[in-house]
Order: sequence, then structure tokens, then C-alpha cells
Amino acid sequence: MTTPRRTFAIISHPDAGKTTLTEKLLMYSGAISEAGAVKARAGKQRDVTSDWMEMERERGISITSTVLQFTYDGHVFNLLDTPGHRDFSEDTYRVLSAVDAAIIVLDAAKGIEAQTKKLFEVAKRKKTPIITLINKCDRPGLAPLELLDDIERQLGIVATPVTWPVGMGPNFVGVVDRRDGAFWKFGRTDHGAKAAEEERLEGADLASHGEAGIDAAGELELLEGVGADHDLDLFLAGETTPVFFGSAVWNFGIRLLLDAIAELAPSPSSRPTIDDAIQPIDGEFSGFVFKIQANLDPRHRDRIAYLRVNSGQFERGIQLTNHRTQRSFAANFAHQLFGRDRETVATAYPGDIIGLISSGNLQIGDTLSESGKVQYPPIPTFAPEHFMKALNLDTARYKQFRRGMAELDEEGAIQVLHHPLWGEQQPILAAVGQLQYEVAVARLEGEYGAKLELTSTPFTEARRTDAAGAAALAGERDCEVVERRDGTLLALFKGKYRMEATRDRHPDIMLDSIMVS
Ligand code: G4P
Repeated sequence: MTTPRRTFAIISHPDAGKTTLTEKLLMYSGAISEAGAVKARAGKQRDVTSDWMEMERERGISITSTVLQFTYDGHVFNLLDTPGHRDFSEDTYRVLSAVDAAIIVLDAAKGIEAQTKKLFEVAKRKKTPIITLINKCDRPGLAPLELLDDIERQLGIVATPVTWPVGMGPNFVGVVDRRDGAFWKFGRTDHGAKAAEEERLEGADLASHGEAGIDAAGELELLEGVGADHDLDLFLAGETTPVFFGSAVWNFGIRLLLDAIAELAPSPSSRPTIDDAIQPIDGEFSGFVFKIQANLDPRHRDRIAYLRVNSGQFERGIQLTNHRTQRSFAANFAHQLFGRDRETVATAYPGDIIGLISSGNLQIGDTLSESGKVQYPPIPTFAPEHFMKALNLDTARYKQFRRGMAELDEEGAIQVLHHPLWGEQQPILAAVGQLQYEVAVARLEGEYGAKLELTSTPFTEARRTDAAGAAALAGERDCEVVERRDGTLLALFKGKYRMEATRDRHPDIMLDSIMVS
């Protein structure tokens, strides 16, 4: 019997408290002894990383995702970090394809914000079970009932509060566990560097806690009346979200949330393959690549392919075959990752993430298995929203420019699109976030010695199409059809309105907003 796994991601709008929560989850699990260590550790690691990591350091943002593994209450937790910057990238979407559950962190004063909504849509499409933490309850915020309403209206998911706050802002004294009515009273310690003082009071008389208690008792009665209770099946189907209230800074409600991840979030299960079959979780070893990261260590110039294990058991040295290429290799150098630290991994189980050193033979979306016969479905992402034309400035280094473009594309750092007339000399670089361009330009110069100029294009919308669609669109003025490396055809439009008008003129052609890689 392997230890049960919980593989999840935390998603939030920047500043809602994702980093703080991550740190507190690690602290409560015992993986770090005191809050503050993650930031310090990350800072130290960043000193030895390459130039574009330098860019992260200067701006204090995280462009690359990391994986954190820790144990708690008899479970192994795999926490996949998603980049926390406003200007996120396709990586963020792909990370969500590798998790079994997601935690959404909301700022109690702000409710649902733009990025939460976008990430939520990706999770919902996959029917990923979502647990919600309403954070920063130690600060004046929106009324709890209003926050639930916001979740339901904006995200279209039923909010089922598992805990309920007693007081908000400076009066936030604890939460009631609606499952058994116990009152968890919190005490502030040491600026949150150590676990919070917690006292569990059974059948507590809330009215004895002043106005905040009386209000909470009234709200709890109201909730009882509408029956907004957590239902495991509906949660696992992605139709409801259990809601917790807390304060990551003060550690209030963190233990309850960790317990909930262990108790409620699903274990990895058998996954469907491309032919609608099911790969049994206890079958042969298999997994898929959901992310590639280049130059983690500038001394090695290697790339790490992050693989989510879906079935079987990974043993160091295992012979694996890539379904796409049917090439086999021995996985001698697999790594387990803690932030940016690497450790060689001997065994891994479904739900775990391992990093495989790749010399360019692995791509995002590849399935690896012992037999080479398993193939998981492609990873869906949203269509890119930014399109810039790239021009090589140094003709003597055209070869490097081309190679750099191809490799960044393969890694999924940016999408390189070719127009039949402009060819490879002037590719269009497509991205979901502006930051991807800065990374691409810096890396092309730093790693390939290629200088490029980016110029804007009039395009703002892309839709996936096929040969018939491309033929039908050939006469359209407001649209250009371009091709991706994998042969996917993309129709680019000058604005949403024009895209919609074109679609109205050609109701029968394929124009899909979901990409696959
Ligand atoms: P992010 O990763 O989602 O972007 O958010 P992060 O954890 O970095 O938190 C953003 C800011 O919000 C930080 O303040 C953090 O201390 C604060 N914060 C997080 N959780 C809580 C909470 O429960 N209550 C309160 N009051 N604040 C919270 P900062 O001033 O930007 O940084 P710092 O100097 O405190 O580290």
C-alpha cells in the first residue's frame, strides 16, 4: 500500500495570499519549521540561476512553477505552484491539467477578481473539485453571505460553507465548523511565524462572544434554512465548492483547510486515455509531460520535463517509451523537486510529479509508459490573446534565431506561428500573457545569441480551425490563417467583433477557442 496522495494547485488573483498560504501549509505539515523560510530559501536558490531567472529576481515575481511535496496526517501532498504574476502564461493552464483538486484563495475584501475567474473556468471545464479559502478575514472585508453570493454569481458554482467566521476584521475571533457545530477559537501568536493558538469548544454559546457571535449565530441559522451543506459527490463532480474562512497571515483556519484537503480532495484515480479507454491506476507505469522548463541550472543547460505519474510505479532506471516518437530510454536521472532544489528520486506513485532531464526529446503533452502504447489526451489551453511579429535583426545569426524559436516553441514558452507568405523569416509569436515576450526575447539573446525586434500586429483573437475552415476564410479581409509547428491551423482576427461577424457569415466552419498541445 502506498501512502495516499493529494495532488493539487493553489490558484488566486495576485496578492490574495497564495504564497503566504503555501508557506503556512508547509509550516503546519512540518516541512518547514517557521514561516519565512520559503521566501528565504527561494532567494538563496535564485542566486545561482540563469539570466532570465535574474529577471524574476529583479522583479520579485515567479515565472516558473515549482512543485512542493510534503507529508501530513498520513498523506503525501503534492502542491503544484502556479505562477502568481498578473501576467500569467500558458504554463498556468497546463499545471491545472496535472492536479486532482484546486484550492481557490479569495481576498475577503475583494471577492472574485479577474484572474481567479479565468483560472476557475479552466478548472471547471475539467470538472476539477475546488475548495475555496476566503482569506484575510482579519481585515475588514465583505460580509460573508455577500462573498458566497459573489462566488455563485460570478463563478456559477454552488458555495457550501464548511466553516463560518465569527467576526470579521479586528473582531475575527474564530470559525464555527458547520459539520459538528464546534467553535474554533483562535489566538494570535508571534506574528504568524508559529502555529496559531486554537481552542475547540463543543456546543459553544456564540452569544457569549458579543455582537460578532450573535451575528454569526443568526447567519448560521439562515444557512441551515437554505441547506447550503457540503455534499461530497457534488463537490467531486465540480458542482459545489466547500468554503473555508481564515487568515493565512495569522494561521487562522489553516489546519482546518489542510485537514479538508486530506479528507475531501480526491486521491489520484484511473485516467481516461485518448481512445476513451481507462488506464488502470495499478497497471503499467504511465504519465504525461505537462511542463518543460529550460536552463534551471545554467551550468548544465538542461531542460526538465515535468511528468505527472498516472499509473503504476516509477523506479529509477525504468525503461520508458514515448508514445509520440516510439523512442525508448532509461529514466536514470529523475528528480523530485522541492521548489528549485532537486533530489534524485528512486520511486514515485500516481499523483506524484517527477522531473526528467530532457535533451529535446520530450514535448508538452507526451505520454511515457513502459509499453509505449498508452496515450493520454492532449492538454487543452485557451487560445492566445497577444500576437507580435518577430524579426531577426542579425542575418548572420539566422540559424540561431530559427533554432531558438523552434526550441522555445517546443517548450511551450511561446507559440510560434507561420504565415504562408511571411514564412519562417517573420514568425508571429503568440502568447496568453505579455510576460512571455520578455522571457522569449531575453532567452533568445542570452541562450542563442539572437537579437530580434517585435512589432505589433492588428490581431487580438485566435480560433482553431481546419483545412475546410482555412479555405472558407481565404477571401476574408479581417482574418489571416497561420500554422503552428504541429500543423494546427489558427485563424487570427482583428478584434472580437470582427471574429464574431466572420463566424456569422460562415456558421458551419470550425472556430474553436480551445487549443490543444
Ligand atoms: P500572492 O502570492 O497571492 O500574490 O499573495 P501573498 O501571499 O504574497 O500576499 C500578498 C500580501 O497579502 C502580503 O502582504 C501578505 O502578507 C498579505 N496577506 C496574505 N494573507 C493575509 C491575511 O490573511 N491577512 C492579511 N492581513 N494579509 C495577508 P505584503 O505587504 O505585500 O507583503 P509582506 O511584506 O507582508 O510579505
